Amino acid sequence: MTRFRVNGRPVETDDDPCTRLIDFLREGLGMTGTKEGCGKGECGACTVLMDGKIADSCLVMLGQCEGASVTTIEAFADGRHPIQRAMADLGAVQCGFCTPGLVLATSALLSDNPAPTPAEVRRALEGNLCRCTGYVKVEAAVLEAAKEMSG
Ligand code: FES
Ligand code: FES
Repeated sequence: MTRFRVNGRPVETDDDPCTRLIDFLREGLGMTGTKEGCGKGECGACTVLMDGKIADSCLVMLGQCEGASVTTIEAFADGRHPIQRAMADLGAVQCGFCTPGLVLATSALLSDNPAPTPAEVRRALEGNLCRCTGYVKVEAAVLEAAKEMSG
């Protein structure tokens, strides 16, 4: 039995502890907001937060989640979070496949560092690949969200 929390909700499962967290989220819980890109820990599309820290859910096994608090993009489901608003307003979302991971990685960054410099934003998001936007708009959106959240 593995027990942990997903977006604050207690979860208990007898699934194989070697099940990948991304598969458990998408297939076990029907939470399909977490996306799979490379499946190898390289693209960041599958990013979730574990106890507030970014984690590639394609590399995390269910057994490693015991006692953890996992946050997925569904925690931001109302679409009104300043990070989501800034990304939409500043054109940082095109196909949107990378966006859940970027929102979560940004959330972790701004929790640790509410007023990052552009270089700090780039460093924090270097594990989240985007094929569409070229990152300039993503960086601008993160800086805008930081301003709004601290103001
Ligand atoms: S799908 Fe997990 S890092 Fe690419
Ligand atoms: S918006 Fe398409 S991959 Fe980022």
